[in-house]
Amino acid sequence: MALPDSFIQELLSRNDIETVVSPYVRLKRRGRNLVGLCPFHGEKSPSFTLYPDTASFYCFGCGAGGDVITFIKRIENLDYLDAVRFLADRAGMKMPEDNKDDAVGRLRLRVLQANRDAARFFHSVLYSPAGKAGLDYYYGRGYTDHTIRRFGLGYAPDDFHTLRDYMRGKGYKDEELIAAFLSKRSANGGHLYDIFRNRVIIPIIDIRGNVIAFGGRVLDDSKPKYLNSSDTLVFKKTNNLFALNFAKAAAKGKLILCEGYMDVIALHQAGFQNAVAALGTSFTAEHARLIARYAEEVTLVFDADAAGQKGTKRAIGLLRDTGVDIRVIAIPDGKDPDEFIRLHGPERFKLLMERAANDVEYRLIELGRQYPLSTADGRVLYLREASRLLAELPSPIERDVYAGKLSAELSVSKDAILAQIEGNRKRQQKQQQGRQLSQIVRRDEETLRRTNPEAQKHPRAVSAEEGLLGMLILNPDYIGAAAAKLPPEQMVTAFNRRLYERLLERHGKDMMVDLPFLAADFSEEEMAYITRMVREARERVNSPGEVEQYADVIIGEHGLLGLEKPEELSAESIQRILDTMRGTRQ
Ligand code: CTP
Ligand code: MN
Repeated sequence: MALPDSFIQELLSRNDIETVVSPYVRLKRRGRNLVGLCPFHGEKSPSFTLYPDTASFYCFGCGAGGDVITFIKRIENLDYLDAVRFLADRAGMKMPEDNKDDAVGRLRLRVLQANRDAARFFHSVLYSPAGKAGLDYYYGRGYTDHTIRRFGLGYAPDDFHTLRDYMRGKGYKDEELIAAFLSKRSANGGHLYDIFRNRVIIPIIDIRGNVIAFGGRVLDDSKPKYLNSSDTLVFKKTNNLFALNFAKAAAKGKLILCEGYMDVIALHQAGFQNAVAALGTSFTAEHARLIARYAEEVTLVFDADAAGQKGTKRAIGLLRDTGVDIRVIAIPDGKDPDEFIRLHGPERFKLLMERAANDVEYRLIELGRQYPLSTADGRVLYLREASRLLAELPSPIERDVYAGKLSAELSVSKDAILAQIEGNRKRQQKQQQGRQLSQIVRRDEETLRRTNPEAQKHPRAVSAEEGLLGMLILNPDYIGAAAAKLPPEQMVTAFNRRLYERLLERHGKDMMVDLPFLAADFSEEEMAYITRMVREARERVNSPGEVEQYADVIIGEHGLLGLEKPEELSAESIQRILDTMRGTRQ
């Protein structure tokens, strides 16, 4: 569906890019722009830049870029229309006659409705005779009715068709139930049956209050312990954290991260309402970024077993990249936070929280376990690893404090330890800079190769084309002059020709050509490329005279296109020319 310019214009005026981006990125003003840590890749120093005057963003670290709609597309994982809808919702605007042929959008809506109805169904079963087993299970774990209601917990009956029949009765089509991951078709064809059976059901709710998925736990020790919704149109498990909908309100900059649904629910009931967990998957970089969006400090409370320690290490690595402060609790006895609270009560847990080690202490302790510190050799090895770890600390004060601690612990001079840390730091910094630089160059090149594959062959033409196009988007009043001088066929590379044609066409119809108006016709990667042109054009002189000059270069380069270029000559023809020149051949 093509949306009218007037609608997009209104949408943009009500969705100022700075306000839209700021919940996702902590922005700091720098000159006329704002900078922050890029939400699209892990980084420690800010390369994400927001340009209020062109209502665009660009990340120098990963090459992400675009307008406010492209930003929402990427960060919320939406297609163009849904991103527009998201912004319209945010600004309290109605979509123009909600799209009749947006089949995917409609199905997504149906899946959300189905999930909500299914959640209500599972919850109501719990308090009926058919749900007794489920209710007993929750009571057995010490959950109160208040907790059960707050989390919308439920029970899926021990039957293959109860939910299916209920949902059919509410008018849901079989395909919709399948799309929602509530029902499946039997292998031999045709027959539809319920996926969740005889399990207690935990609905997963996103930060907007939509039921997006379910987790189902068996009532006994049978396997698999949990059955979770697969990814659907409305759910991507690596992008969501359980209970974030509650936790974000309680967080005040601090979150607790644990492993399981049951841990989270137990913590909330005990008054720690800022607890979240990953959903039936190991912790990912996306989870880490999500946490960094809502918190400055996160406390990890994983299970006390080997898997929990491994998970802690993994999460620390990923969270470090986002710059949040990390604290770690090792549960002294009992297997997980849920059991600890049941055994010792919330007060004891609070003490644990207060005494949580920061991640460096935690990692030093872990490291210390691996070496025999009673021997000189063991101490040397430990010190070598520890100084590597401490070299990663950005703050010199922190490094000094831990060097002091190590020195006392191992009776080694503090200066020697600091010197070793410093050596490691220099080496690590050099490695990192090298890695970052080659990453940036590689990313930019990759984007360019994919969006404009001809760029490498025609560097001079491309640089003029990019200069011209960026300038035209910034100064639409120059488009008329450009059109008169440079017909689109003269554009050397196909992508830039397409963009140029689009600009001329829109301008001819008196339509806007600012970045957001282009977002409907170009992919996210293409938008990043276009945004880069605009960003670079901002730094140069913009005048009608420049238009002429760019056009001249492009026309000149276009004229060369048909001609054979030296590097395209075959070895034989070169030989022939040389021979002719030397007059050795007649
Ligand atoms: N998990 C899963 N599938 C499994 C086992 C675990 O998806 N077969 C996920 C669930 O999200 C679960 C988390 O991993 O919440 C942690 O697993 P575990 O510690 O075994 O579960 P708990 O939530 O602690 O459950 P309980 O206390 O009932 O054993
Ligand atoms: Mn548990």
